[in-house]
Amino acid sequence: MPPRMLSYRLFTPADQAAVLDLIGRASYVHRHLDWQPGDAWLTDPEMVAGVGWCHNQAAALMAFSPTTVGVSWLRVVALDGDLPAQVVVRELWDFLRPALWKRGVRRICVLMLETWLYPSLALLGFVPVEEIVTLQRIWDDPEDFAIARPPGVTLRPAEATDLEAVLRIDHTAFEVRWQMRPRDLAIVREEALSFTLAEWEGQVAGYEISLRYDSGIHLARLATAPHRQGQGIGSALVAHVLYFANRLGISALTVNTQASNAASLHLYQRYGFRMIGEGFTVLEARLPDSPGMV
Ligand SMILES: CC(C)(COP(=O)(O)OP(=O)(O)OC[C@H]1O[C@@H](n2cnc3c(N)ncnc32)[C@H](O)[C@@H]1OP(=O)(O)O)[C@@H](O)C(=O)NCCC(=O)NCCS
Repeated sequence: MPPRMLSYRLFTPADQAAVLDLIGRASYVHRHLDWQPGDAWLTDPEMVAGVGWCHNQAAALMAFSPTTVGVSWLRVVALDGDLPAQVVVRELWDFLRPALWKRGVRRICVLMLETWLYPSLALLGFVPVEEIVTLQRIWDDPEDFAIARPPGVTLRPAEATDLEAVLRIDHTAFEVRWQMRPRDLAIVREEALSFTLAEWEGQVAGYEISLRYDSGIHLARLATAPHRQGQGIGSALVAHVLYFANRLGISALTVNTQASNAASLHLYQRYGFRMIGEGFTVLEARLPDSPGMV
């Protein structure tokens, strides 16, 4: 059967129902592990997405997160089953690159969760840049997770008015690729089971964000302001999450980190976390600096 011809258009809010229908029925789907719940990403006004149409039906979709300092993540790809994946992924990529460039995107990252997508992205020049590992801490009987806080450090729940201070730490502690946007942080505050600040003499110096999932808690974010690192703040926050989980009767905590992140691996392992098999590769491609070459 000859391949179907698609016509590509930028996503508009009017396409929402068609796109959700496509994601629901598509044979090939890639979904980023998003901060935003469910399909909230579809209403994000700053995202860049393209839809391939065939006889007025959405048959292919590629969507990117809004950029943070020039970096955007591939958020969703969905393809109807009879489409040639490599051809259509390339067509969507070629179609969307100028729009991404105009939005200031220069690096595109992908959390490689779906093996079907890898050959298509490799052909487009995406290369592995980072390995993400998963660690888990499980305990059978309630344990005494004493919270050892360094002198001068207090822990308290984050309020909406703290988000600016949290973002400042986030953007100095994490490499650009991993930095959060204000909108995502505000959303995650609503979703989080626990969002705790560590204050050092009244100044926000670190934070953790943990989310509930089926069988446990996922420590989704942990950071200490660079000038306060190495003084026990990260440890106090990890101990707090363990203590908190224990009090809720939950006995499994997971966390992801970069395989190269020696400080966080050391910290998690010191608290009894062990590596489990689930890991992911991060791929990245760069857009050229000059618009004529996009
Ligand atoms: C990981 C992080 C939160 C730790 O916070 P912290 O406040 O420095 O943590 P602590 O001071 O309690 O403990 C740090 C531990 O890491 C150790 N450490 C620091 N750098 C290290 C390195 N390069 N290799 C091995 N261990 C290292 C410290 O010696 C200390 O261990 P110890 O108490 O047994 O001596 C902090 O480094 C950070 O914000 N990093 C950037 C963001 C990040 O990577 N977050 C976690 C991944 S999601």
